Amino acid sequence: MKKVILLLSLLCNSNVNAEAIEVLHWWTAKGELEAQRILEKMLLEQNIEWNNFAIVGEGGESAVRVLQLRALSGNPPDAAQIKGPDIGEWAKIGMLEEIKQITDTSLWQQKLPQIVRESVTFDGEYMAVPVNVHRVNWLWLNKAIFDKLDLPVPATWDSFFAVADKIKAAGYIPLAHGGSVWQDASLFESVALSILGGEKYKQAFVEHNEAVLTSPEMIRVFKLFKRLHKYTDSNMLGKDWHEASQLISDNKAAMQFMGDWAKGMWHAQGKQPMVDYICTDVPESKGLFSYNIDSFVFFEKNSSAAHQKTQTVFAEMLLSEKFQVAFNLAKGSIPVTNAIEIGQFDSCAQKSFADFNNAELVPSFTSNLASTSHLRNIMIKIISNYFNNPDADAQRTVKSLSLAIRAINK
Ligand code: BGC
Repeated sequence: MKKVILLLSLLCNSNVNAEAIEVLHWWTAKGELEAQRILEKMLLEQNIEWNNFAIVGEGGESAVRVLQLRALSGNPPDAAQIKGPDIGEWAKIGMLEEIKQITDTSLWQQKLPQIVRESVTFDGEYMAVPVNVHRVNWLWLNKAIFDKLDLPVPATWDSFFAVADKIKAAGYIPLAHGGSVWQDASLFESVALSILGGEKYKQAFVEHNEAVLTSPEMIRVFKLFKRLHKYTDSNMLGKDWHEASQLISDNKAAMQFMGDWAKGMWHAQGKQPMVDYICTDVPESKGLFSYNIDSFVFFEKNSSAAHQKTQTVFAEMLLSEKFQVAFNLAKGSIPVTNAIEIGQFDSCAQKSFADFNNAELVPSFTSNLASTSHLRNIMIKIISNYFNNPDADAQRTVKSLSLAIRAINK
């Protein structure tokens, strides 16, 4: 009997007729993986098979490179995790499907906040489907260490450095930080937003205003950024962000500056916000929110009815309430649609949601939301070299950064 039931269930669930969709992404860390599996499972419920094209690590730099190779050789995947101005680069060369050909976008105006819509629009047309809103400028604290050492939540940089010194003296790692280019630059971005404020941050990293890029305030940003180096652990050189977040889970490190995908990882480990860790604003950043919006593009490659149907189901599922809730709970982000009851999310997500709707919003340049990855990759290398070279000079670095930006934008 058991055998018969097994056979029947195999037949019912068999996906012999399932359409497959190959998707490139870099969600490979714990938390990211859970979120990706939710997506995979919900697609399978609609008889669509997820063909995993995952490239590990570091905010997607390698994934974007591999995608370029695949696309240039005439064999792009069906869909890819591309965001911000890079969407325009792919659209310009005519490789992307317009989203209105795939799904009815007439309600997006009501359904999605303007910033979200803008992030997926090129030349007046939607060219990608948004899935979530991550906040980048968070400071995470390990609650056990903060309680044990009786430390205040640092709201200013003075208080941050005082707290970091006490943590170091007590034998813990003050700052969980993997030594890699993208993480160095993300840390820089949080410092820059805090010191410059929203307006000047945008002038520098969105408009590339040379006066702001080389201003005394920018030099201050670089100098403060460099002071953080001695609170990191040299054993973490070359480690990915989630290995740094693991130091928080293991009560080895006390603080981490990181986007809220780190919360996704702690969620997967069963850790609770405000019980195991605290989420707070980066010092002196109250009312400022640097956003990172993930989205999927579809490559124009197959006009068969079955393929079109797969794209439509995929796109529509991404914006469904069921998916938005389950995926974002796992991913650590907040939904892209306004209509979702945020009360069912944790307190950090609720803070993120309130700030997203009320704070001053700036695009995260290290997450590719402010410029193409071509420019961003050069900027983050200059920033990281400065962080890791004890002899590097802030004044000279701001000049190199602004020169590099000018050269690329020419
Ligand atoms: C992506 C996030 C991802 C993070 C770390 C960012 O660029 O937008 O979705 O979790 O990289 O992998």
